Amino acid sequence: ATTPPGANLLLVLDAGTTSTRAIAFTQGGEIVANLGKPITQHYPRPGWVEHDAGEIWRASRDCLIEVADIVGVPRVAAIAITNQRETVVFWDRVSGEPVAPAIVWQDRRTAEACAALQAAGHEAMVQAVTGLILDPYFSGTKIRWALDNWPAVAAAQTAGRLLVGTVESWLIWKLSAGTRHITDATNASRTLLMNLAACKWSPELLGLFGVPAGILPQITDCAGALATTALLGQEIPITGSAGDQQAAAIGQACLSPGQLKATYGTGCFLLAHTGPVAAKSAHRLLSTVAWRLAGVPAYALEGSIFTAGAAVQWLRDGLGIIGDSRETEALAQSVPDSGGVVFVPALAGMGAPHWQPGARGTLTGLSGGTTRAHIVRATLEAMGQQTADLVDALAADGVPAEKLRVDGGMVANDWLCQDLADSLGIAVERPRVIETTALGAAMLAGVGAGLFADLHTAAAAMAAPDRTFTPVAAPETRAARRAGWARAVRQTLVP
Ligand code: G3P
Repeated sequence: ATTPPGANLLLVLDAGTTSTRAIAFTQGGEIVANLGKPITQHYPRPGWVEHDAGEIWRASRDCLIEVADIVGVPRVAAIAITNQRETVVFWDRVSGEPVAPAIVWQDRRTAEACAALQAAGHEAMVQAVTGLILDPYFSGTKIRWALDNWPAVAAAQTAGRLLVGTVESWLIWKLSAGTRHITDATNASRTLLMNLAACKWSPELLGLFGVPAGILPQITDCAGALATTALLGQEIPITGSAGDQQAAAIGQACLSPGQLKATYGTGCFLLAHTGPVAAKSAHRLLSTVAWRLAGVPAYALEGSIFTAGAAVQWLRDGLGIIGDSRETEALAQSVPDSGGVVFVPALAGMGAPHWQPGARGTLTGLSGGTTRAHIVRATLEAMGQQTADLVDALAADGVPAEKLRVDGGMVANDWLCQDLADSLGIAVERPRVIETTALGAAMLAGVGAGLFADLHTAAAAMAAPDRTFTPVAAPETRAARRAGWARAVRQTLVP
């Protein structure tokens, strides 16, 4: 389908971990309408996290319809999808319904399977082919687990009716009325099943995990005529698709080697653009696809931290020491320092650069004088320290950072941004639109619909910085905090 005449808005569906959201952008990067719905988190056992893929579809569909109603369907030029990555959906190609819960990226149920594969000496090959680490975070072992443990998944597979995909794949299949079973190369690069250099499913990896190729989607570009949908009452092209962290890097205009961003959502994900050849990390970072356009991939190095905003959520819902996340800025500022408290928020194990699914969070340095303000401050300080660990690993891999672009809900907090700059010792730049994930997806949709010649043109039209935070902390203070954090991390890691 071609872009409807007179239509000029880019409609993005951002299907995240805790909510799904539709946002309509102008081609100048302004948000015209923005509407979200929460997604229920299911924790059937410790370390397990599931979503209802049916709920993700219904909430996403309703957000798209409601936002399109607000702006007027005829104004929608193209649609883009961006999504929580690695989470895997199992559905029946005949009924169009999920056959099992979606296993979420945070889920640790395959930790033992990963450890066994590591013990059998497979990690070097896995890393060389996929750019990833053997960790339950990624989709491959989750798919194998579902085939082995959920009879409905195995039965659908035996009957030749099983389809599997990450969240964007599921949503595009639903939006296209079951006509397109595809996944873009950024999402495919998170499955442990894709050959990173070729952007093709790897027979070697499919064999290692025992995943039949026939249940997997076809790997596509991130922009172009990916599919069409009649959901809004007229055929509208879907011309952009990327995992949310890759989309955020695009929205932050990290388009040239060495440019990097960190997004503070449920977790924190730092991506550094590395150019047309996949860089190999010697410091436990991931190599991943940044985008693929016209068949040509670009790559990034990534550091994935599993707990960022989720730690603040835990202060609110688990500990009950705050009523609203917005209170954290004033509470952190109300004390001169954390009073020696260090919080390592390994609430879902530890990701990069440690990769310890079995690690549990630690709160150290408590005294009789510790107040909730100290604990809140230590929680926010953990964001800067975790990010500094990634920036250090990146520098050790030969990508030194001059400046970090930040986005995500947490960076509305000025205190946090200043503390990030102080923890890293480099400038921290916040963009005008902190819905940067959706902005990046809109840029892809614009390129895919032929409204922009390339991502550079799209960035010039749509992306703009807002404010830069420069470090003010003395180098000794920074070093002392880094040392205190390193001590606490050592206590957190499983020996
Ligand atoms: O890799 C997981 C990531 O894509 C999740 O992002 O924003 O839903 O926390 P978010």
